[in-house]
Amino acid sequence: MNYRTLVTRAGLPKPAQGAPFLPGPVFAGPFHAAGEIADSPYSYGRYHNPGWTLYEQALSELEGGTVRVFASGMAAVSAVFGLVLRPGDVVLLPSDCYHTTRRLAGGFFTQMGVTVRMAPTAGNAQQDMLGGVKLLWLETPSNPGLDVCDIRELASMAHEAGALVAVDNTTATALGQNPLSLGADFSLASDTKALTGHADLILGHVAVRDATWAEPLQAWRTQMGAIPGPMEVWLAHRSLATLALRLERQCQNALAIAQFLAGRPEVSGVRYPGLAADPAHHVAVRQMRHFGPVVSFVLPDRNQAEKFLGSCQLVYQSTSFGSLHTTAERRARWGGDDIPEGFIRLSAGCEDVEDLIADLEHALTAMARE
Ligand SMILES: Cc1ncc(COP(=O)(O)O)c(C=O)c1O
Repeated sequence: MNYRTLVTRAGLPKPAQGAPFLPGPVFAGPFHAAGEIADSPYSYGRYHNPGWTLYEQALSELEGGTVRVFASGMAAVSAVFGLVLRPGDVVLLPSDCYHTTRRLAGGFFTQMGVTVRMAPTAGNAQQDMLGGVKLLWLETPSNPGLDVCDIRELASMAHEAGALVAVDNTTATALGQNPLSLGADFSLASDTKALTGHADLILGHVAVRDATWAEPLQAWRTQMGAIPGPMEVWLAHRSLATLALRLERQCQNALAIAQFLAGRPEVSGVRYPGLAADPAHHVAVRQMRHFGPVVSFVLPDRNQAEKFLGSCQLVYQSTSFGSLHTTAERRARWGGDDIPEGFIRLSAGCEDVEDLIADLEHALTAMARE
């Protein structure tokens, strides 16, 4: 089945007379559950919810593995760290991955006796540091620098070295790239971003190739209480049906914007894995179906970057990415990343590309006028 068909129908129950296509959210703390707990499919809302079951089924069709949904992307990250890492273990992170993932590992998990090693995403640099590693963590394309590593090659080397492999697939989404089929043990994402794409919820999930991880993942979620709300999960499932439509338009727009920016003298360091001239392109084409909505570039300094953002009329100034609205921010305002003050992370939405480029052109001209 073509992925566009798959994603439109993913996780929908079999047609039943008089039933909706996608059942609405089920709001329940406790469920009616007489007798033995095992006799009731649902008992208490921290353990399970019918809407989670449908959404997890949908994502498992896209990921090619068993899925558990979590309250946020960070809840998904912490579940994998928490299940795999024990005192004395070594985790090998990308030095350029999402800064909160590095913070969590370097703070809480270091205090718990885990050793954190880091190497850049570019050039598969993590391959040289695999000795004694329990968990190899990849994030490709990395956020916000958009470097790419070869998942298949690194997963195979990591397995030979006895490590498990997790891929944070947030920037690409399960439609853009399929880490489990490339050899990863865990594929996880912040569903807050392009997967759901409407800037109206916070959510995450973990997919596993080996279904025996599903039970401990679920136990972690239940016991830590890192559970999503029924409404968020229903909104996410509803949004999933348009993922192919949204992502294809967003990626076309991202490529056109990257090409436009690459031709502008005020702009340097344009990165987009879909650009033929991008240093990551040759690896990206081997493993990605779509190159994602995010483009990054550098403006001369902090003031000019702020002037540019303030002059955009269509592009929203906002953090996060993947929404169907085009957004951009000066990423250094958050700290935690090794990037210049004028570094901009832009996420292409679904608007008309000519309108977007006209807005960017206007803002660059206004910036240069200063
Ligand atoms: C690559 C990546 N992973 C994980 C997260 C965390 O996701 P959430 O904000 O849904 O907790 C983010 C958020 O920006 C992210 O960019």
